[in-house]
Parts: sequence; structure tokens; C-alpha cells
Amino acid sequence: MKLFDVYPLNDICIEKAAGSYVWDNKGEKYLDLYGGHAVISIGHTHPHYVKRIEEQLHKVGFYSNSIKIPLQVELAEKLGKVSGKEDYQLFLCNSGAEANENALKLASFYNGRKKIIAFKKAFHGRTSLAVAATDNPNIVAPVNETDNVIFLPFNNEAALEEAFKQHQISSVIIEGIQGVGGIVEAGASFLQKIRSLCDEYNAVFIADSVQCGYGRSGKFYSHDFAGVNADIYSMAKGMGNGFPISAISISPKIAPKHFMLGTTFGGNHLACAAALAVLEVIEQEDLINNAKNIGDYLIEELKKLPNIKEVRGKGLMIGIDLPDELNMVKKDLLFKHKIFTGEAKPNVIRLLPALNITKTEADFFLQAIKTELNP
Ligand SMILES: Cc1ncc(COP(=O)(O)O)c(C=O)c1O
Repeated sequence: MKLFDVYPLNDICIEKAAGSYVWDNKGEKYLDLYGGHAVISIGHTHPHYVKRIEEQLHKVGFYSNSIKIPLQVELAEKLGKVSGKEDYQLFLCNSGAEANENALKLASFYNGRKKIIAFKKAFHGRTSLAVAATDNPNIVAPVNETDNVIFLPFNNEAALEEAFKQHQISSVIIEGIQGVGGIVEAGASFLQKIRSLCDEYNAVFIADSVQCGYGRSGKFYSHDFAGVNADIYSMAKGMGNGFPISAISISPKIAPKHFMLGTTFGGNHLACAAALAVLEVIEQEDLINNAKNIGDYLIEELKKLPNIKEVRGKGLMIGIDLPDELNMVKKDLLFKHKIFTGEAKPNVIRLLPALNITKTEADFFLQAIKTELNP
């Protein structure tokens, strides 16, 4: 059998990883500022993470959600504390799309409505409702097309107010910082407006924190910069440092009913052990502050460099918007300087490194990109 060929691949085979570095099968070392797409939050093969998963695997790796799993309770308590939302409720699942799918569905159960507001350039995943709320017709199959999603311009308060007047809105879903959309921040007053309109109309505010959450922005949820709470936060990528786990954190105003949501794999013992290890390291190593400090430093230094159109983002979610003539920089960083970065169309380099990246590693990258910007 062949692989179903859905990804254009770089001709690199990673065999080993530690901290912010990965090594290929020829022994070549790379600095990883991509983290496999914002997934590596506490660094590759962190010793505490490896130990906790290994120990758990010797006890029990999986049993279903039909029994009590104390590790889930421990995870809920820890996540509540680290995220500053201790009165919220946790539902565990397996991927970012699944988290958003459950968030949108739960909102509709809550208020009995169908209409969802999403925004231009949003990305929320590839499953049915999540992809319908994603602004990319190329990945929406005919079966996913629905009139229930209304796309509005990002950061446009007047359009938002108008949509609330015209439709019975169930939920508004928004990334605090658009990732695939090119690292674009939702404005604080826009998020505050979403909060007040959702309160006025009893709609549900869903903060997609799959990419911008889990401390990456310098706060646990990037939406926190606006000083208002969402009703549901979805999270995934950084949560398991590569172990597939995702979740929604749900406001106390939304009451659960048996069987309204469910999953086979979500919240299994091994996944909980991975997620607990991540939160323990985030706390012990003060990684949210490190994300802020190194992020501020990188953004400040990048803004001094020539030939960049714009530097955007917060903490360790940074977009470097380059002019068309510099469309080779990302490839040159990888093949000449051995640095992995991410990208967003048309020509934005995305930095999504581990939250424990050091200043020395940041400086290595700054030196490399400087040489590429001055051809
Ligand atoms: C903001 C956002 N939401 C949802 C998703 C979907 O997550 P997953 O690929 O784990 O389903 C992504 C993935 O890139 C994302 O960036």
C-alpha cells in the first residue's frame, strides 16, 4: 500500500530530537522554530515528559470513559489553575478540529440555535462544522457546505453588530491570533465587543486557542489580553507536546447532560499523563514568562531588520511578512542555515518555537535571517 499523497514534503527525515533541536538521518542538526506546527511546547523529549509517559505506560495506557479516571480530574484541576479559569469544566478529546467541533455543537445545544459567526481567513480544522467555519473553499467538500456559517471581516465591530441584529446567532468562533491566516491579532476592543454582544443575545463566545493558546502568546490564552472571558476555549497543539490530546474548557453557565458529548480515546490515561507533564513543566520552568520575554526580544530585534514588510504577533507566535522578491528566505533558512520555520500564504514566515527557547537560540536565528534579508 502507498501513502495517500496529501502533503508536499521536504526531503528530510527526522530521527532524533531534544529541546529546540532535531537531527536528521544523516546526523545533520536543525534548530526547530516551527515545533511541528506549534505543537512542541516544552521542547522535544523533555526528560520530565518522557519519564511521566513511560511510567504511566507501565501502569495502564488506556481504558475507556465508562470508568473513573482520576488523572482526568487531576488534569482539570491543574489546567484550571494554570489557565486561571478554575470554575470552568473540562471535556477532553483528540485534535484541534474535534475540540472546535464539540465547542460549536455544545453552543448549539446550549441555546438551541444554528447560526455561527466566523471570520475571514479563519482556520478551525478539517472536520464537518470546523471546516465549514474555515475560510478556505478549497478544503470544504460539498457535503460540508452549510448556510449556518456567516463569515464576517476580522476586527470589524459594525459588521458584527449588524449580523447579531439580522440572525439568531448561536456562537461566535475566533482565534485570538489568526495562525494560518498569517499571524493577525484580534483587537482587544473587538473581543470585548464579541463578549458584550454574546451576553446581550445569549450567544456563545468560542475562543479557538488551538494554535495561539497554551502560553504561546505570553498569556495562557491570547484572548486574555482583552480582559474578558470566553464561554468556551478550545485547545490542542501545545497541550500534549506531540501526544495527541485536545480539550474544551467550558464556562460554568453551560450545564452538561449525559451523552451530549463523548469520545472513545479522549482523556485516556496516557494522554492525561502527557498533558499533566506539559503543565508541570510550564509551571516549574515559568515558560509563559519565557514566551513573553523571548517573544518580545525577537519581535523588537526583527523590527530593526531591513526589507521586512511587517512583523506581527505576540510572544512566541510571530509572523514575518516578506515582500515577494524574498520568497526564498524560508527555504534558505532551512537548507542553508538548518532552521525550521513555518509559513503562511502568501509570504509570511511563522515562528512557533518551543516555549523554553533560549536567547542564544533566538540570536542564532536573528543572525541567519539578517544575512538572508541583505542579499
Ligand atoms: C487555530 C486552529 N484551529 C484548529 C486547528 C485544527 O487542529 P487539528 O489539525 O489538530 O485538527 C488548527 C490547526 O492548524 C488551528 O491552527
